[in-house]
Amino acid sequence: MRFSGPSAPFHATVMVPGDKSMSHRSLILAAMARGKSRIVHQGGGADVESTRAALRLFGVAVGSDQVVSPGIDHWTQPAAAVDAGNSATTMRLLAGAVAGRPFVTTFEGDRSLMSRPMGRLAAVLRSLGARVSVGADGRPPVTVTGAMLPGAHVEIPIPSAQLRTAVALAALQASGATSISSPPGYRDHTERWLAALGLGSGAPFVVNPGAVPPLEIDLPADSSSAAFLWVSAAVNRGSTVLTERVTLNPGRIGLLAILKRMGAEVTAIETGRVLGDPVGDVEVAGSELVGVEVRGVETVQAIDELPALAVAAAHAVGPTVVADAAELRAKETDRIAAIVAMVRGLGGHARDTSDGFEIEPVPLTGGTVDSRGDHRIAMAAAVAAGSGVEVEVDGFGATGVSWPGFEHALEAMWSS
Ligand code: S3P
Repeated sequence: MRFSGPSAPFHATVMVPGDKSMSHRSLILAAMARGKSRIVHQGGGADVESTRAALRLFGVAVGSDQVVSPGIDHWTQPAAAVDAGNSATTMRLLAGAVAGRPFVTTFEGDRSLMSRPMGRLAAVLRSLGARVSVGADGRPPVTVTGAMLPGAHVEIPIPSAQLRTAVALAALQASGATSISSPPGYRDHTERWLAALGLGSGAPFVVNPGAVPPLEIDLPADSSSAAFLWVSAAVNRGSTVLTERVTLNPGRIGLLAILKRMGAEVTAIETGRVLGDPVGDVEVAGSELVGVEVRGVETVQAIDELPALAVAAAHAVGPTVVADAAELRAKETDRIAAIVAMVRGLGGHARDTSDGFEIEPVPLTGGTVDSRGDHRIAMAAAVAAGSGVEVEVDGFGATGVSWPGFEHALEAMWSS
């Protein structure tokens, strides 16, 4: 796929697909509930479809807007291994959900997912009393053999929302309360939602076992998808983009604070809440950007947006340093290596460090970028064409994981 960027400043309002993190969570919680739930504006990509398809294997009826379930007590053992596709969230969250069920479930995935770390998942679920086995090198397949869970205090060594959520979903079925602690910065959708449903509270978060009620949820747009549009506007001086009703969970919008520090004009206005989770409208306007240092909690709060940030950094004045991002090496691909290769492939200067990357801006010349099968690398590379350089993205089809049709949305934005 080839991109040549906008020929003039653009002013656009863009509809962004439903939030992927919240889609997985709402589908799984609705499937745990007994009865009919309505979940509208679900993410349309292959990752969310992996969760929908997996839930059907447990005997839950899942449609595009509706979930009808007999309740988790009546889930049935899948006849074969559950294929989570490219979606680690599907694998990790569902491994937690089935930890208290009286049957055996095996989870597999595509080549990328089969090489991702699952040892930490197994360790935290075991500390709750679950029986979980993974491949010898800590990779999938993941096999969960249901057990009685007594409830426990679970310490998670990294600020991972997936691990916290896996533990919380298991803990809902335990006989006693479970408390969960981890370093800060993680997206706390699950904690906010369980608190709103009366199933948990506090810090460290305590899960009170109980039945999940059927849900009625209108999901917001995905801030991690909107991030590519925000960066495209930020690097095109005089351009603006408005994305309405996106998630404003603090663990999701670190990029907005970073873009602001870089000099972009950013307006984020909260317009409502979904089960206690803030949503609102975000407008980003481009201007001259300066390089910044990003580390600590801010890195965690922008973890999925770092490929997009790299594009902004490549257009800034002065260097950008991203630290405390070692987790990027365990994403859909080694994203530190992929980001550095992307920037270099477009004529920029970038180098990797042990826990992040550094970008020294020089005018980009354009070129070819291999997505390495990673949706966020493919979208970041496309947005790099926003500076008026030609970019060819090999493996652009990976974008189907989170935003099928992203190229049409981007071209429409650039010509508006
Ligand atoms: C996610 C949590 C993050 C994020 C991933 C989605 C979630 O992963 O990178 O894309 O929906 O909980 P970690 O839990 O590994 O930090």
